[in-house]
Amino acid sequence: MYVDILLGLQWGDEGKGKIVDYLAPKYDVIARFQGGPNAGHTLVIGGEKTILHTVPSGIMHDKPMNVIGNGVVIDPVTLVKEITTLESKGITTRGRLFISKKAHLILPTHKVLDAASESAKGQSKIGSTLRGISPTYMDKTGRNGLRIGDIMSPDFKESYQKIKEKHLKLVKQYDFDFDVSADEVKWFEAVGFLKSLNNFIDSEYYLNEALSQGKKILAEGAQGTMLDIDFGTYPYVTSSNTISSGACNGLGIAPNRVKEVIGIAKAYCTRVGGGPFPSELDDEVGERIRQIGNEFGATTGRKRRTGWIDLPALKYAIMLNGVTQIAMTKADVLNDFDQIEACTHYDVNGSLTEAIPYDIDKATIKPIYKSFAGWKQDLGSFTTVDELPEQLRAYLRFLEADLHTPISMLSTGPEREKLLFKSSVEMVG
Ligand code: GDP
Ligand code: IMO
Ligand code: MG
Repeated sequence: MYVDILLGLQWGDEGKGKIVDYLAPKYDVIARFQGGPNAGHTLVIGGEKTILHTVPSGIMHDKPMNVIGNGVVIDPVTLVKEITTLESKGITTRGRLFISKKAHLILPTHKVLDAASESAKGQSKIGSTLRGISPTYMDKTGRNGLRIGDIMSPDFKESYQKIKEKHLKLVKQYDFDFDVSADEVKWFEAVGFLKSLNNFIDSEYYLNEALSQGKKILAEGAQGTMLDIDFGTYPYVTSSNTISSGACNGLGIAPNRVKEVIGIAKAYCTRVGGGPFPSELDDEVGERIRQIGNEFGATTGRKRRTGWIDLPALKYAIMLNGVTQIAMTKADVLNDFDQIEACTHYDVNGSLTEAIPYDIDKATIKPIYKSFAGWKQDLGSFTTVDELPEQLRAYLRFLEADLHTPISMLSTGPEREKLLFKSSVEMVG
């Protein structure tokens, strides 16, 4: 029938996994369209936490099928670990998880190249998750990559060897010690396991057939708009298109199949890794947000940098993605704040702007804030967005007017059921 796209509007970790998990029963298929195990999508169900890196966040429900699209890059070891962890919790993936034959494989030497490149960058390192993401996408666009479907080929090992040798030559340009022999053994074991699952598909046909049969698909993004390879804070970005057009490329779905674009944004802002962050709070307020919001990476455990919400960046993200509705997460983290701030403009060399500067990684940006009174109460007892405390509604009203986009959902805790809806906005799914 149609595709809805759900993606991050900031620098990742907006709470995409939680919202996908909540919405999943409304769809027939949940399909991840880009990124790889650099992602960490957290679901909290019945007090139990599950972190997904490659598996789509619909897997905890019986109904939807879950597809890992062609735009995703896969580390077999991580994926097998995810599958076996899910199976150990009684969540079966057999017959419910399908992998595009065209998804590219992350080799052990891709991870070596990622680490070598980062260590050579010194102070200006990107802060990569070291999962081999950039070298794998480089091999994809350089037309050297290995794809999941190649696992079935009789000359898979020779193809692997050829690429590995190329990588070994490349890594010689760095002064970097490594040993991949143990990783290689695990990698081939995991490849064997994936082969045995017999779930590699031509996902573009699968998804388009589902649409022809009147089914509904939710495309799940990873990372966030400000990490997009084209439009993010380059070079401090990831290596894929995280924006809505990435869902078309990463799944083989035509743009006219897309209905809603659901943008996820925190009530404040975080970023992990290097790069510009105009509204960053490198002070005790930022530390308070980090502690209350538990802002530590789901994939690497690193401290997330924290700051106030950045409206120029959100407007940019809404424009690029064609966002039709926003799900705002982590409002509860601000429950005890007397005052909260929203960055409405940037002051770049004395000029006020709402535009993201081309040279954002070098520009000196002073954030300009508008203050809001805090709501100073727990949100646990509220059941719809419409009846929230007036101070929070005033904050949301301002955001909706300034962003020209409705905030249809408000998440008030990590748990699945802690999600409030706005009655006047069209429901998704
Ligand atoms: P994702 O990568 O976008 O899926 O987000 P992550 O899972 O990396 O990070 C979001 C973190 O915030 C996780 O620990 C979630 O459990 C948690 N979370 C999600 N929504 C909320 C919310 O509304 N309130 C609070 N306090 N935590 C939330
Ligand atoms: P989810 O899907 C937050 C960041 C890294 C680094 C940069 C490049 O959980 O929101 P990479 O490993 O992709 O080469 O790293 O991107 N990054 C993320 N930050 N959430 C993510 O995913 C991220 N995936 C990558 O920290 O700054
Ligand atoms: Mg995450």
